[in-house]
Amino acid sequence: MIEKAAPEMSNVYIQLEKAMKIPFLGWIIRKSMPKEAGNTVTNFIVPHLAKDLYKLKDGVDDIARNAPALILFHAPKGAEEHTVDAHIYLTYALLAAHSLGLGATVIGLIGPAINQSKQLRQLFGIPLGNEVVESMILGYPKLHFKRAIIRPRKNVRIYHNN
Ligand SMILES: Cc1cc2nc3c(=O)[nH]c(=O)nc-3n(C[C@H](O)[C@H](O)[C@H](O)COP(=O)(O)O)c2cc1C
Repeated sequence: MIEKAAPEMSNVYIQLEKAMKIPFLGWIIRKSMPKEAGNTVTNFIVPHLAKDLYKLKDGVDDIARNAPALILFHAPKGAEEHTVDAHIYLTYALLAAHSLGLGATVIGLIGPAINQSKQLRQLFGIPLGNEVVESMILGYPKLHFKRAIIRPRKNVRIYHNN
């Protein structure tokens, strides 16, 4: 199913790139999105498309990354707290997958592509009125890490009552 979906997922992003290049239409698309999604499209997705990513170039699937399995977190669009719930499920699913020794990672590109495409919604059996909030790809890891990656520490402010 993932292999079958790859060309259409790619096509959604190719069409997005074309539309964003049309002067007034590009501006309208951006303005019709919540600011966060607009920034993701402008600052992340469009520059990647300009480098020919997400276009199945030379048959390389850099959206689903040739994953053998995919979990979609979806819910009725108006369901109370469904967005935050989906992110909680996603996070627990990542931990569960890793604890089983599987490789798992979040792919933000897949949900919006499915939501945009009737063909993809039908393929993945997403009921009408539902939206895919997030997706997680799963597979057997090629690499095993002995140590965690060293990352800069975030600042934490601690307040004391006395
Ligand atoms: C919300 C979210 C969406 C993401 N979307 C994508 C994506 O569409 N494509 C991608 O290659 N990586 C995406 N990533 C990054 C990978 O899931 C992963 O975090 C990254 O490969 C770094 O792995 P690490 O966090 O284990 O170091 C996303 C990460 C997050 C948190």
